[in-house]
Amino acid sequence: MDDDNQPATVTGRTRYALCGLSVRGISVFAGPLLGRPDRPPIAPDTAPYADAGELVAILDRDADRVEQYRVAVDAKVPWYSPEQFDRMVTETRPDVILVATPDHTHVDYVLSGLTAGLDVIVEKPMVTSAEDAARVIAAAQDSPGTVRVTHNLRYAPRHQRLRQLIADGAVGRVTSVELVWNVGARHGASYFRRWNRTRARSGGLSIHKSCHHFDLVGWLIDAVPEQVFAYGARNFFGADSPHNPGRELTAAERTEADPYRWYETASAADAGPVRDSVGLSYPDQYPQRLSAYDPEIDIEDTYSVVVRYRGGASLNYSIQFSAPWEGYRLAVNGTHGRLETDLYYDVEPLPPAGSTPITHYPLFGAGRAYPVDGEDTGHLGADPLLVADLFRPTGDDPLGCRADAQAGAYAVAVGEAVWRSIKDNRPVNIADLLRTEAGG
Ligand SMILES: NC(=O)c1ccc[n+]([C@@H]2O[C@H](COP(=O)([O-])OP(=O)(O)OC[C@H]3O[C@@H](n4cnc5c(N)ncnc54)[C@H](O)[C@@H]3O)[C@@H](O)[C@H]2O)c1
Repeated sequence: MDDDNQPATVTGRTRYALCGLSVRGISVFAGPLLGRPDRPPIAPDTAPYADAGELVAILDRDADRVEQYRVAVDAKVPWYSPEQFDRMVTETRPDVILVATPDHTHVDYVLSGLTAGLDVIVEKPMVTSAEDAARVIAAAQDSPGTVRVTHNLRYAPRHQRLRQLIADGAVGRVTSVELVWNVGARHGASYFRRWNRTRARSGGLSIHKSCHHFDLVGWLIDAVPEQVFAYGARNFFGADSPHNPGRELTAAERTEADPYRWYETASAADAGPVRDSVGLSYPDQYPQRLSAYDPEIDIEDTYSVVVRYRGGASLNYSIQFSAPWEGYRLAVNGTHGRLETDLYYDVEPLPPAGSTPITHYPLFGAGRAYPVDGEDTGHLGADPLLVADLFRPTGDDPLGCRADAQAGAYAVAVGEAVWRSIKDNRPVNIADLLRTEAGG
């Protein structure tokens, strides 16, 4: 704890402690409660949930970064270091622990929160291994606290409409799902210049990124994953990349020869500190700039996956992390029809947001297109709806958007099954990874 810490006030609002002052932690947790550093001067609408919740503590290993944030939003929230979790809980008495640290550390903060009897809201992926997921499920059963995983893609208007159509029987019994996801070259390269690029810290992209997609499909079709088979490789990044300019060049020559350089922002080409998208630096996490060709990169950037679900449906999924456009193609087939949707973003020239409809093709009869609106804000329009449901929930959750620990565990386990299947060239059972009866 630092010298500036003040005793928390008693306000009657829900009290939140944030573990991880990350970009994501600021955009969906700290920002809505306190304000964002990238939108000065701090206007009332930059902290739209300040009346509903109070950020009573920030735990982060980087004191400098926390101080930058506190100065930017003019708030004296107490700072704690990672080993001071228990002290933070005692001194600031939070109701809820928010977790937005690098993925491999989620398990520690989720388990500590549950041990303290508190509710936990954790960014995806819930943890980075099925073994840790099983520990979280067991701890949640023994705690009065609950676990909620912010699988935000459930909140995207397009996905909510799809879920409703499927639940209403638009395709009959779901038989198969087709999902092709492309991550644009600029976005894809960013994973390989940050902590996400090692399995030890992210679980690999089949967990870190694809957990979104495995959760989305399981939720859309309301089915439990049973078995996974996958192929995968690293084709674009790492030391053996076909785009690697080579280490014999000087740093400046390497940057100049790097084809992904075109996507760098001006500040990323400077010698200055690594800054995030809200303008804060990470003096502790990134004392120097990382290259997308560094030898420590040990994860795949290309996957082809088949998942079988309980009840007989299957998913055919592929993703690559260096594509000329970003977006996806999704289709859900059933005994009585098919639903299709495409979404392209981060494409030049950009198509108008929400311009592609969901199309319903009944097996017998006329098709119908459903336009989709509200996709022009964070993550396909999902984030504002997620944040509202976190901090000012209204009513029930009819579409089941609030992912619990079991849902978080399935998304992680499918992602782990992917890299294990690739490694061992065999199908992997989800129940074996979670060491529970699938469905739990
Ligand atoms: N739902 C989404 O769409 C979405 C999008 C982006 C990121 N995320 C998730 O959000 C989380 C944060 O990702 P990010 O890219 O914004 O992170 P980031 O790299 O911007 O920040 C990480 C922060 O954690 C701190 N930190 C590092 N190790 C720590 C430790 N052991 N204890 C406490 N603090 C520590 C760092 O100092 C830094 O402030 C991740 O779990 C990521 O998977 C989710």
